[in-house]
Amino acid sequence: MSPPPDPTLDLDGLDRAALRRSRGEKWTTYPEDVLPVWVADMDYPVADPIRRTLQAAVDRPDLGYPIHPAPTDIPELLATRMQECFGWRIEPRRVELITDVVQGMYVALQQFCREGEGVVVQTPIYPPFLSSVRTMKRRLVENPLALGGEGYSVDLEGLRAAADADTRMLLLCNPHNPSGRAFRRDELEGILAVAEERDLVVVSDEIHADLVFPGRRHVPFASLCPEAEARTVTLTSASKAFNIAGLRCAVAIFGSDALRQGFLGVPRHLRGGLGILGIEATRAAWREGGAWLERVLAHLEANRDFLADFVARELPGVVHHPPEATYLAWLDCRSLGLEPSPYRFFLDRARVATSDGAAFGEPGRGFARINFATARPILAEALERIAKSLRDPRP
Ligand SMILES: Cc1ncc(COP(=O)(O)O)c(C=O)c1O
Repeated sequence: MSPPPDPTLDLDGLDRAALRRSRGEKWTTYPEDVLPVWVADMDYPVADPIRRTLQAAVDRPDLGYPIHPAPTDIPELLATRMQECFGWRIEPRRVELITDVVQGMYVALQQFCREGEGVVVQTPIYPPFLSSVRTMKRRLVENPLALGGEGYSVDLEGLRAAADADTRMLLLCNPHNPSGRAFRRDELEGILAVAEERDLVVVSDEIHADLVFPGRRHVPFASLCPEAEARTVTLTSASKAFNIAGLRCAVAIFGSDALRQGFLGVPRHLRGGLGILGIEATRAAWREGGAWLERVLAHLEANRDFLADFVARELPGVVHHPPEATYLAWLDCRSLGLEPSPYRFFLDRARVATSDGAAFGEPGRGFARINFATARPILAEALERIAKSLRDPRP
């Protein structure tokens, strides 16, 4: 059972001056007068069990080489967590530690797909899905999500048509960034049917799995059935939900020994090494971070609802479907004709740094993404500035 929530965790009282002094890219990329609501880092303080673990490692000091292959209990911890959170049984021996999720995508592209072969991605999508396929010289096969009055859904007919005989892989993002969709079981089963027809390896990025709001449940793709598991590499980490992306520690879960062997064909030193702090912070997050996460999720849900309400009242013409998961809001600004892009417009006129929708693929053009994992006063100010820039668009 998780301990009671920490009443001292004041998520709305964040110190803006302290945030400005942080060295991560979120607060350092833009000038001081710009409010950053772009990259997917949360502004919240790290969970106390993680802070204590890191502090103890520095005090001891315990900053030497981690033993490799790391005899950590992370595979077992992860197995317990997957069972408890999602009712998914995984084999600890099929878990490998990697430095980050995007690295796992590159290794999978290298090992399970040849140059020129097709890789399906569902656009608009987190930009590394696009750049990894292009950088590795695989063929990008786009299967845009369908956008209707209720929001985004999987276009299964489009997927079937897009995945030709030369397509080897599907890079799935579930929950999906930037749409915030947590795909339903029947949608995932539809995807599986196509993956089986075309014999695709599925690489499922589930890094946002812990950030699903009430009313939805995360369904791991590999948990659908043994056939799904056997063709899937699941990539995840504690970094998004526990806000420790700078520590570089993630996991790959293989649905078969053959997938594991194939992935490990890339020499360890090419895959890079993990730091001891990332490993220890991940252990602390998964063992003791439950209460913090509960509290943060409640705050995120309230911020999500506040943002949705604000957009409906104060940003006429902007279309927004509240996310089912993630702390990312995806604003459809196409009807406003903001030039040269909503991103540039909001940066120049509102001094708010959003993420540029165009970076998420062609269907993202005319959209802006807002990260709402911050104190309410900061979020409110960013939204007010945007509203003002639209009311009075003179430079
Ligand atoms: C869907 C998704 N995958 C991967 C990442 C990055 O993960 P990592 O830092 O482990 O590469 C992010 C970061 O925002 C993300 O949203």
